[in-house]
Amino acid sequence: MSNIRLAIVGVGNCASSLLQGLEYYRHLGEQTRPVGLMHYDLGGYRPNDLEVVCAFDIDSRKVGRPLEEACFAPPNNTATIWSDLPHYGVTVQMGELHDGVAPHMRDYPPERTFVPASLPPVNIEEELRKSGAEIMLCYLPVGSQKAVERYARACLETGVSLLNCMPVFIVSSPKWAAEFTARRIPVVGDDVKSQLGSTILHRAIMKLFAERGIKLKHTYQLNTGGNTDFLNMLDRSRLGSKRQSKTEAVQSVLPERMPDVNVHIGPSDYVPWQKDNKVCFLRIEGEGFAGIPIELELRMSVEDSPNSGGVVIDAIRCLKLARDRKIGGPLISIAAYTMKHPPEQIPDNIARERVEKFISGEIER
Ligand SMILES: NC(=O)c1ccc[n+]([C@@H]2O[C@H](COP(=O)([O-])OP(=O)(O)OC[C@H]3O[C@@H](n4cnc5c(N)ncnc54)[C@H](O)[C@@H]3O)[C@@H](O)[C@H]2O)c1
Repeated sequence: MSNIRLAIVGVGNCASSLLQGLEYYRHLGEQTRPVGLMHYDLGGYRPNDLEVVCAFDIDSRKVGRPLEEACFAPPNNTATIWSDLPHYGVTVQMGELHDGVAPHMRDYPPERTFVPASLPPVNIEEELRKSGAEIMLCYLPVGSQKAVERYARACLETGVSLLNCMPVFIVSSPKWAAEFTARRIPVVGDDVKSQLGSTILHRAIMKLFAERGIKLKHTYQLNTGGNTDFLNMLDRSRLGSKRQSKTEAVQSVLPERMPDVNVHIGPSDYVPWQKDNKVCFLRIEGEGFAGIPIELELRMSVEDSPNSGGVVIDAIRCLKLARDRKIGGPLISIAAYTMKHPPEQIPDNIARERVEKFISGEIER
């Protein structure tokens, strides 16, 4: 099996966790049954087969640095999984800034916020071609509409697959999806649904309530965290698509939509000392037999960024399988399984079955 050649856009906490996690599995080897993965071997590809060949960022503490150092540069603050990353031979390149950094981010101390470098951007298409990248992981901040579109355009120009881990709607936009389909480039997006995060949990419990005949009245999902993702989302004007992505992910599992006013879901506050720890507070109110009230309160605490690595590692390998099989356009099953805002919402248990069929080649996408 050939290696899967990755380009990373945004060497933040998620990218850092993914690379550290890959190193963790590389060292665990095949003797021990690997834990914490949905698939160790996916269609013949293993964690060892992923290789980063180029990386873009705009932060002065990351650009021009070897990738293995940039992963630990501030303001990254996720838990350390593997401190001794190998020498990848990849230098982080200056990307195109556009709307990547929100104005309010400049009001915070450098160790907690982005510090854009004053350097000219490299030629993105040229770097992608030179490196032989096959799949681009887009880890840009929420609200970076123009920047994401710019990198998506570079994918279209160079034939690179886009794995859009954040909530700017590209793969789930019929216009963009048609362009990728026309050029036979497989893509997955949008906005990662973490391995065991607030979205998948909320979906599962709401579905359970509905299936047991409980009339759903109100629900909220409040999330707090102390990483740059949460700091960035203090600017409510950047949040539109994130709220839509998270809310639709929950509404779509219900047999009957709840009135929007009764569903409140979103990032709620930035608590610096939490760092990359995310806490989710979930409440569901309903009515059971003969209208008798039932309430559920739940609190979940997770390390945010490794939680995305646990699904991205599968989406990457499905994209590679599609490239091997010359399939282009959005991959419906793996997108529904791993993304909050896929082109098509499918209940998680059915999406999971379809992913297995996709891997075995029984279905095309
Ligand atoms: N579990 C999760 O952590 C999770 C789940 C779903 C979605 N996401 C989304 O994934 C994205 C990445 O999350 P993160 O925690 O790694 O964020 P982060 O803030 O740690 O990293 C973002 C990186 O992008 C860089 N950047 C900003 N503008 C850029 C540009 N124009 N070009 C290149 N680089 C640029 C920043 O310097 C930073 O290194 C966010 O949008 C987040 O909402 C994360």
